[in-house]
Amino acid sequence: MDEIRKLSDDIAHLARLSVTQQTQQVQRLIMRIARSYSKSLPDLSAKLVQLIQEAPTAQSPLRSAGMTVVPVDQDSRLQLVRCEQPVCLDVEPVWPQPIAQILHRFCEERRQQEKLLAAGVAPSRSLLLVGAPGVGKTLAARWIARELGLPLLTLDLSAVMSSFLGRTGINLRHVMDYAKGLHCVLLLDELDAIAKKRDDVAEVGELKRLVTVILQEIEEWPQSGVLLAATNHPDLLDPAVWRRFDAVVQFPMPSQSDVFDLLTRIIGAERANSDLRRAASIALSGSSFSDVTRSMESVLRNATIENTSVEKAMTELIEERATSLPRKSKYELATQLTKAGVSQRLANELTGVSRDTIRRKLTEAEEVTQKE
Ligand SMILES: Nc1ncnc2c1ncn2[C@@H]1O[C@H](COP(=O)(O)OP(=O)(O)OP(=O)(O)O)[C@@H](O)[C@H]1O
Ligand SMILES: [Mg+2]
Repeated sequence: MDEIRKLSDDIAHLARLSVTQQTQQVQRLIMRIARSYSKSLPDLSAKLVQLIQEAPTAQSPLRSAGMTVVPVDQDSRLQLVRCEQPVCLDVEPVWPQPIAQILHRFCEERRQQEKLLAAGVAPSRSLLLVGAPGVGKTLAARWIARELGLPLLTLDLSAVMSSFLGRTGINLRHVMDYAKGLHCVLLLDELDAIAKKRDDVAEVGELKRLVTVILQEIEEWPQSGVLLAATNHPDLLDPAVWRRFDAVVQFPMPSQSDVFDLLTRIIGAERANSDLRRAASIALSGSSFSDVTRSMESVLRNATIENTSVEKAMTELIEERATSLPRKSKYELATQLTKAGVSQRLANELTGVSRDTIRRKLTEAEEVTQKE
């Protein structure tokens, strides 16, 4: 018991030092922890010693991979890539069925690359992730890196499109060279940022050169690394660019059952009954995963601040969404809710549609299905 108390004090102390970015002290404390637990927790101790030996820093976060310092923009000196290692996800993603299949297969090919190579076939190494905002493209890249246990390097193109386009090409090459030397996942995020400036006639030549850089780099991408790119405007991209990727993954908007699964993961099944969660997923239909996450976080915040139950806060959210709907959609929501197992009384409370009207609409809907 004493040991656990001591360890929890040490972790709290370590957390305090880390969030206040006192790197030197963090390193000293890690060494002390490694020493004092070498007998009782030898595994932990060995991992900590290894970490100290690798001594990763913000400039060089991947020292273990034997690489050099993260490339920076020549003028601003800002780092060009963001590095995440290891990748940790707050909530386990919900992947619509076809996406799950593609992502799992991609990871499987990477895991079994030796077998594939021995058979004379190359495993996939690149994916272009396409879809509306908030459907999980960036998240998919993080998920893949986590599944493969690789560091994730992200180059946000909308952020590095420097006002001097010529330098964007140089920066891009720097990043690609750096990433090629590592065993990692490289994500070129917001790839369409490159194409968006195309209307500006003066810059067309420069942009063409940039596209050429990308094309070359994709071709030369080593078999050992994973190259991902994300965009919500594939139409803005040169078709030559997306032909170079091994596959284009089209992320759909989440279905009602995807929304149900995600909100259940965020809220927790025990904090709201399933009828209410189903009702919320109907009220949120048409939203992206990102909107669903935001709505559920606000439900949790409201419940905490107002000292009410999560169910009450969720009911308020459904009511709020229902009031902004036109009358016809309200009827639809009310009938869908009852069909999904929500009682007519609750459907009436949530949507304001009378129980008589709900019953009438249900009969009408039944008659239509029978005719069909
Ligand atoms: N499939 C999913 N499962 C669970 N949560 C998700 C999923 N997709 C997105 N989210 C939530 O939405 C947030 C935003 O998603 P993400 O950044 O991946 O969107 P995106 O498709 O890259 O959008 P954009 O085009 O705006 O960059 C995530 O941080 C996560 O909280
Ligand atoms: Mg994104």
